[in-house]
Order: sequence, then structure tokens, then C-alpha cells
Amino acid sequence: MYFDTHAHLDDEAFDADREELIGSFAEVGVGRIINASSDMPSSYATVSLCEKYDFIYGAVGIHPEAADRMESGDIEKIAELTKKKNIVAIGETGLDYYWDSVPREVQQKAFREHCALARELNLPIVVHDREAHRDCLDILKEFPGIRAVYHCFSGSVEYARELSKLGFYFSFGGAVTFKNAKAAPEVLRNLPREQVMLETDCPYMAPVPFRGKRNHPGYVPHIAAKIAEIWGISPEEVGRITTENALRFFNIK
Ligand code: NI
Repeated sequence: MYFDTHAHLDDEAFDADREELIGSFAEVGVGRIINASSDMPSSYATVSLCEKYDFIYGAVGIHPEAADRMESGDIEKIAELTKKKNIVAIGETGLDYYWDSVPREVQQKAFREHCALARELNLPIVVHDREAHRDCLDILKEFPGIRAVYHCFSGSVEYARELSKLGFYFSFGGAVTFKNAKAAPEVLRNLPREQVMLETDCPYMAPVPFRGKRNHPGYVPHIAAKIAEIWGISPEEVGRITTENALRFFNIK
């Protein structure tokens, strides 16, 4: 069984066929999904998906690229949403210095508020770190004991080791299948397997041979196959290990 730990099924890219598509994942062995929210409307949509489907879990929060739309009171609303069915994490949150579309101080303030909430509620946090490695880690270190997963991990082996020592997890998606992917396979070879999970980040980042097309959780087996090659084990074994990791990390019974 495969667990897609980072999907955006509330995205408008799925408006035309969401229900039909969600019904097709079991056939390819994808049995559980975490839907990651990107802003407040997306957090409410995530709660709805979790209410409708027992195998969909949710992270609620505001993405760094939407941090400038965060209003006072939103963090309290997010705290309320964590009480809903199958909501198991805060996120996605973090820092994005690649697009730099939102002032860095605004992103950092929002990230800190999400971290504080995650620690207060003892929930794991889903972190988006794009070209903001140092600041991201510095902020997380202000919250000792926080449990974080770096999604779509794009850092070096050295950075991965540093995060791994803090007990953080990593999720890998379609990028590991790209021909020019160099860092991720190297990181995967050097990380404890107990800290690795699978993700799609759909509708973005479709794995080869679907690169450039709409991504969805049904493509997770293609990512598992690539990791299986890197680890020298079977895709089923990758599915088993990464699913166990996800159940443990998100505290799902
Ligand atoms: Ni995402």
C-alpha cells in the first residue's frame, strides 16, 4: 500500500473529475493521502475532503506564498479546524525565497505562528522550504521538540543529515524521477529510511513519464519504483516502509 503524504486535491485542476479520480487510487494501491492546504479556503476544502473520504487526512494552514493574505484571527481558525475529522497536521507552511512574491518578514512571521500552534497542539508540521534553508532551520530551532517533515526536499546531503539528526522527516515526489535529478537520489542513499515518505505535491511535479502533465496520487507507484531502484529493494517494500513512516509521523492509528 502506498501513502501520498502531500497532495492538493482541493486544487481547481481537479474540479472537473475529482470524485471519479479519487475513486481510482485504490486500484493502483494508493490507500491513504494527506491533503496539504495552501490558504484559508483551501483549509476548509481540506476539511470537507477529510469528512467525505475516510482515507484522506489533512494538514491545515497557509502556504508561504499566501502569507500576505493571512489575517488576524486566522491562526485561531486553523486551531479550530484541527479538531475536525482526520486533520492530523499543520501546513503547509514555511519559506519560499525562490519566488520571493511575499516579503520575507511576512513569511517568517506566518511560519513562526504555524510552528507555535503545532507545538501547542502537539501536531506535526508540513514544511515548504525553497531556497530558504538557513532561515527555515533557524526558525524551527526556536521551537524545540517540534516534529517537521520537509516536503519535496531539495537540499544537499549535508543539510539532510543536519535535519535528520533533529528527527525531522522528508518526503520525496516526482522530482526524483527527473533525468537531471542528482541531489535527491544522493540524499535518499544517505538518509535513514525510517525518515522517508512519499508524496506527489499534485497537481504539480508529475513523475516521468507524465512530466509536465497534471499530477495525482495515482502516480505515487512511479515515484516508489524510482526510490526502489535507488535503495535496491522492491517498490512494494518501499511502499511498506514509507507507509509505516507516514502512519508514525502523522500519528494515524
Ligand atoms: Ni504543496
